[in-house]
Amino acid sequence: MASNRTFTMIKPDAFEAGNSGAILKMIEEAGFKIVAMKATQLTQEMAGKFYEVHKERPFYADLCKYMSSGPIIAAILEKDNAVEDFRALIGATNPANAAEGTIRKIFAKSIEANAVHGSDSDENAAIEGNFYFSQFERVI
Ligand code: CMP
Repeated sequence: MASNRTFTMIKPDAFEAGNSGAILKMIEEAGFKIVAMKATQLTQEMAGKFYEVHKERPFYADLCKYMSSGPIIAAILEKDNAVEDFRALIGATNPANAAEGTIRKIFAKSIEANAVHGSDSDENAAIEGNFYFSQFERVI
């Protein structure tokens, strides 16, 4: 059965551009409930840990540098079929391939500065949510 939670980050490009509010509005209007949220900034080491699954990829070092370059918003979202529905809402990783009306199509600048992250599985949604939030912060 699909989990009803996913995890997202509004990345430094979207935060810096002042698009966090517009992105959160799209997320809520799509039926997702925000059950935990914080504005924070990763160190390069923390970004490395978060994206550890990509550590052999050629873009890993740049990605970690980029993701620690400025503030982000981290959030846990709730909705039926959350992981799959959220990935449809944000669109393809590369905004050049993202469908019209998706968050990345509207706000992303490049494949690296692609406005938002969305978990790719129920298992990773739980791991990524736990990376940012302790059980005591999830009060909803
Ligand atoms: P995200 O959904 O956060 O998951 C991994 C991130 O790596 C991805 O979004 C992109 O920001 C980045 N990424 C994936 N592929 C590439 C690539 N080919 N070049 C640069 N960055 C990439």
